[in-house]
Amino acid sequence: MNLILENKINATLKNIFNKLDLDDKFAFVKVSDRADLSDFQCNGALALAKITHKNPREIGTMIAEELQKHDFCESISVDGPGFINIKLKNEVIAQNADKMAEDERLGCGMTDNPHKVVLDYGGPNVAKTMHVGHLRSGVIGESVSRIERFIGNEVISDVHLGDWGTPMGMILAEIIRQDSNLDKVTTYDIAQITEFYKQANIRCKEDESAREDARLITAKLQDGDKSYYKAWQHLRGESVKAIKDNYARLDVNFDLWWGESNAHETCGKIVKIARDKGISEVDNGAEIIRLEEGNKPKPPVILIKSDGGYTYHTTDIATIKMRVDDLAAEEIVYFTDSRQTLHFEQVFEAVQKLGIAPNVKLQHIVFGTVNGADGKPFKTRDGGVMDLETLIEMSKEKVRQSLPKADEVEGYGEAEIEKLTSQIAVAAIKFQDLKNTINSGYVFELNDFAKFEGKTGPYIQYAIARINSVLRKAAANGLQSGKIVLEEPEERSLALKLAQAHNVVMRAHTDKEPSIIAEYTYNLAQIFSTFYNACPMMGAATPQLAASRLKLAKLTRDILKLMLYLLGIEAPEVMLKAENKGE
Ligand code: ARG
Repeated sequence: MNLILENKINATLKNIFNKLDLDDKFAFVKVSDRADLSDFQCNGALALAKITHKNPREIGTMIAEELQKHDFCESISVDGPGFINIKLKNEVIAQNADKMAEDERLGCGMTDNPHKVVLDYGGPNVAKTMHVGHLRSGVIGESVSRIERFIGNEVISDVHLGDWGTPMGMILAEIIRQDSNLDKVTTYDIAQITEFYKQANIRCKEDESAREDARLITAKLQDGDKSYYKAWQHLRGESVKAIKDNYARLDVNFDLWWGESNAHETCGKIVKIARDKGISEVDNGAEIIRLEEGNKPKPPVILIKSDGGYTYHTTDIATIKMRVDDLAAEEIVYFTDSRQTLHFEQVFEAVQKLGIAPNVKLQHIVFGTVNGADGKPFKTRDGGVMDLETLIEMSKEKVRQSLPKADEVEGYGEAEIEKLTSQIAVAAIKFQDLKNTINSGYVFELNDFAKFEGKTGPYIQYAIARINSVLRKAAANGLQSGKIVLEEPEERSLALKLAQAHNVVMRAHTDKEPSIIAEYTYNLAQIFSTFYNACPMMGAATPQLAASRLKLAKLTRDILKLMLYLLGIEAPEVMLKAENKGE
């Protein structure tokens, strides 16, 4: 069953091109830019004309004549310099929508190359407060993880905690400096640990000997010193609890909670491989791999520092080896901001030289930063870094203004209102992020992001809840959904838009770009709204028409829900509004 209209046309075009002896690489359509003229457009004749130096309109006409012989087109025309415009018959679109509605995957196919993907996102650090800079990696990573699973890949997501570098030595050194030993460490909670880290940071900025202490302690910790290790375990444990809380609030999930520290043993193996292959050398007391090949020489990878400690490079290289050997990863994708571009270029090149991940696709996806209105990284009102908890609270506060208070609506006590508030607030934050292409940064819009209108998460949630309500009412009135017939233009546009679902998901998967789904979801919700206003369900002229519209509405609801799910956003069954206390 082929539920993708484009693919159906493309397959026919391919046969036609072959029959006419034309290069079938151009035998494909795209969704038309001119919905008034056509549903789909093929620009193949223009491309072929350029190569063969023939008249594009003539080629176009030849193709169009062949296409006429097939019965799925309502009209075919060759326009302008040689565009082939195709309009499908209503029955074809209707039948397609019917089949989508009956399909458990709503017409969305799967990849024909299923494989195992490790996704590395989040990347928070022990003892550092999670702030707005950590938002995108988690939110984008969660969405990509859901998309990859949905299209049939096996996904393992790993948070890759920053838990093994010099900052660990810095905190331990600071605690020792203030307490004279580590006896009290296990009594410290996350607030105290974070505070020690802040003080350590200030001290290390000014004081070379403090930096030296931190380096030594880090090296000893990495070497297995028992008392440092025990203290570190506590710091890590408390941090992980706080980090898990933050991610749970955002519905960002991980299969693995590995960190840099888990790679420690494998770091030793990496050094051995490098030595055996003769690709490492000692330079100023450090052991390095030079990366001078290719047209873009990079600084060397430092495997072991002169004090004996491993680096961020080494742990990442070792982690790749573990993901390949132990997890059988066939693809590894990292999500960080642009400050780590060079880091991953170095890591990937060293991995190549070491030969530890043959045939594994390594990809670093770079995202832009979340900025304030001034175009600089988003800050709190007093100029501090915006931590994630504050951001979520702020969003909830906004949402609360649009919702009724507890017990104002039947069945909505304190707990229910709180749950709904969180669901909407998180949708607002996530959608504002995911509607932007990954590589562009965006300005965190403080006023409109949580509104129920406009290109927002709550708008989509509201659209879904509205359809839920219509479906409930229809059921209460004994209306059944049935075979789709497309009579009004609004019905036709809706069914045509629904038919894009598969390609949208596939493009989001290929480009690792959730914004494609966000854009589609918003457009679909808008098109539904136009349909809803123009095509009454209860008041439809015939029961058949009502049944058809009901089925279209349900399919739209299901697709919107699926798309929100793929973005990592929940869709509450019912949405409330303060003004009218309900839908
Ligand atoms: N902890 C790192 C940071 O805060 C991000 C980790 C990204 N992932 C990785 N495998 N290096 O910058």
